Amino acid sequence: MTKKVMILPGDGIGPEIVEQALAVLEVASEKYNLGLSFEQGLIGGSSIDAHGEPLTDEALKAAGECDAVLLGAVGGPQWDTLEREIRPEKGLLKIRSGLGLYANLRPAILYPQLADASSLKPDVVAGLDILIVRELTGGIYFGEPRGIKTLENGERQGFNTYVYRESEIERIARSAFEAAQKRNGKLCSVDKANVLEVTVLWREVLDRLAPEYPDVELSHMYVDNAAMQLVRAPKQFDVMVTGNMFGDILSDAAAMLTGSIGMLPSASLNESGFGLYEPCHGSAPDIAGQGIANPLATILSAAMMLRYSLGMSEAADAIEAAVSNVLELGLRTADIHTDGYQKVSTAEMGAAVVAAL
Ligand code: NAI
Ligand code: MG
Repeated sequence: MTKKVMILPGDGIGPEIVEQALAVLEVASEKYNLGLSFEQGLIGGSSIDAHGEPLTDEALKAAGECDAVLLGAVGGPQWDTLEREIRPEKGLLKIRSGLGLYANLRPAILYPQLADASSLKPDVVAGLDILIVRELTGGIYFGEPRGIKTLENGERQGFNTYVYRESEIERIARSAFEAAQKRNGKLCSVDKANVLEVTVLWREVLDRLAPEYPDVELSHMYVDNAAMQLVRAPKQFDVMVTGNMFGDILSDAAAMLTGSIGMLPSASLNESGFGLYEPCHGSAPDIAGQGIANPLATILSAAMMLRYSLGMSEAADAIEAAVSNVLELGLRTADIHTDGYQKVSTAEMGAAVVAAL
């Protein structure tokens, strides 16, 4: 039985890093007899250039018919002047909402080999392993009405709407409770219930569900404090769950605790376990085309894909072990490079993972 993976390289460094992840998947497929097959598609600026829109309905349909999607990143300055509706990022929002990918799992793991790459003191971050569960298809990024209007006095006013339905909160909360059950049984829900009604409801729903997960210890924290605590003492957390916008910001902060955003994978899942896998970082236009981007976040995203959507955890473990292995050997792309280690290119890093595998 073959499993089909939709490959969406995207823009900027996307194609460079996806090429390496694909090479790793091909070797894994051979070695573990996974029977993976691949289909390539366009998303983001590359789709705008070819079709005038960041994700065509055909591409969305084709992605949904595959067993999983592996994505690079989208966006770049050449498309920044387009109107919002046809910007590259709109392709991401379309695939997330089109495939119902509401649960964004973003691990922040500090590899012991990279302890000196973090901007925080080693004892604050050593051994860090947290998971941020971010709601991805609702909240203020999708709420209506939205826009910029001109008031009677001629002044312009921008507005967005922060909304969550109970059912949306409940399903992301359940994803988080379940993730916490599989880890250390600690779940911190992040909100702004002292100011925003929508998060008062959020907190109520979490509290209502908590008795169904007696093995999970639920706590609540305001988002401003959570930002502070993430930097002060990040190891107090295990799983954090929050809405779309807070999760966007906190997960980037958590990513930086580990030293490089170039190391962090992510999964976006729907109710049936179908998922889109992508690195946490963007298309890095500042280094695109130079062959120096770190492909490990994308390679680790491919491993997550095998584990969460394709039921191939043996191969996933092997890929993660191979990544650990190349770090152990001292190989570093520029973003994680420090004195005394061997600086390698995107392709050299990918080849080293393939060799380790
Ligand atoms: P970014 O994540 O692309 O880059 C931030 C910084 O991290 C840059 O200095 C970049 O060189 C570096 N970086 C990122 N990934 C790296 C890697 N694999 N290896 C080495 N260094 C890496 O975020 P930025 O600059 O805010 O956005 C650039 C573009 O990417 C924008 O068009 C933005 O809209 C888009 N973007 C796309 C995302 C996605 O496709 N999921 C997510 C975030 C941004
Ligand atoms: Mg972000």
